[in-house]
Amino acid sequence: MRIFSGIRASGDKTLGNYSGGYRQYRATQEQGEALFCIVDLHSITTAYEPEGLREATLAGTAMLFATGIDPERSIVFAQSHVPAHAEAAWLLSAATSFGELRRMTQFKDKSTEQEFVSAGLFTYPVLMAGDILLHQTDMVPIGDDQRQHLELTRDIAERFNGRYGETFTVPQGVYPEEGARIRNLQEPERLMSTSAGNPQGVVRIVDEPDVIRKKFKTAVTDSEREVRHDPGAKPGISNLVEIMSVATGGSLGAIEARYGDSGYGQFKEDVGEAVVKLFEPIQERYRELRADDNGLRRLLADGAEKARESSAPTLAAMYERMGFVRL
Ligand code: TYM
Repeated sequence: MRIFSGIRASGDKTLGNYSGGYRQYRATQEQGEALFCIVDLHSITTAYEPEGLREATLAGTAMLFATGIDPERSIVFAQSHVPAHAEAAWLLSAATSFGELRRMTQFKDKSTEQEFVSAGLFTYPVLMAGDILLHQTDMVPIGDDQRQHLELTRDIAERFNGRYGETFTVPQGVYPEEGARIRNLQEPERLMSTSAGNPQGVVRIVDEPDVIRKKFKTAVTDSEREVRHDPGAKPGISNLVEIMSVATGGSLGAIEARYGDSGYGQFKEDVGEAVVKLFEPIQERYRELRADDNGLRRLLADGAEKARESSAPTLAAMYERMGFVRL
């Protein structure tokens, strides 16, 4: 079983990234051969600072290990260290239509937030497809916001296999049962994300405990007082119930049974405390790992070598089947 997932370069990751990303990476790495990629090439598709990118790449690497990725077992690497990824994106763009890319809702949302809409923002899903397909991936652990990109990846793989001959494994997305779409605590109709929405409703993994407590205390709920999971009617409180489940491992039913109609005040406080407990050990490991630049660079160099080996046969097969002269 091959497992692959990517995460944008940043140390500023959220509770949403923890729920749909890190938590699933740690669990799936037990099930086979896993690769986790800091997708630094994706980071240049929206406005950014070069110095910030360097910092974000090292910070993102530290966060993967801090949340439980084992370097003995899994491959962690930066996308730009394995040129096959950029090459695969170009080759796969021949098997991707303009119409498909235009339908991507993330592009539609993000392009309205940018002053300068780069061509890279539009073609980004092709690079992501290359990330996944180059490693003959069976399983892709992701959150719900990446579902459309994964479906596109499957379509591209099938089209390429049909046109040029069987080349790629067609991957399956793996989504968490609870917490596949964590929402902004202030605007529960929006995804929790650092790039948009009220920052007071965005919980970062590296937030100070008191900042986390305050964000939960002031979370938006509704006027009833019943703690119940019903995302259609009660998006704010349902989000908190899911977060409680993510932080403690308790089922939605057990959480509803425990809090029921005892009111929102205590519940919000307890969810905040559960998240503080969840993130404290991660923050401690993160600070240690992040302090050692050379150590992180060594881990990345080791990962890059393994990822080059893992991707080389597939890239060679792509060139071969597409008709390029091989020397
Ligand atoms: P990125 O960096 O935005 O997010 C990393 C992971 O976190 C998940 N996630 C969430 N899950 C639940 N609730 C949320 N509010 C939330 N916010 C983010 C994302 O679904 C993702 O799994 N395009 C990808 C990176 C990527 C990739 C790949 C992923 C590039 N190549 C290949 C998988 C395979 C992205 O921008 O993720």
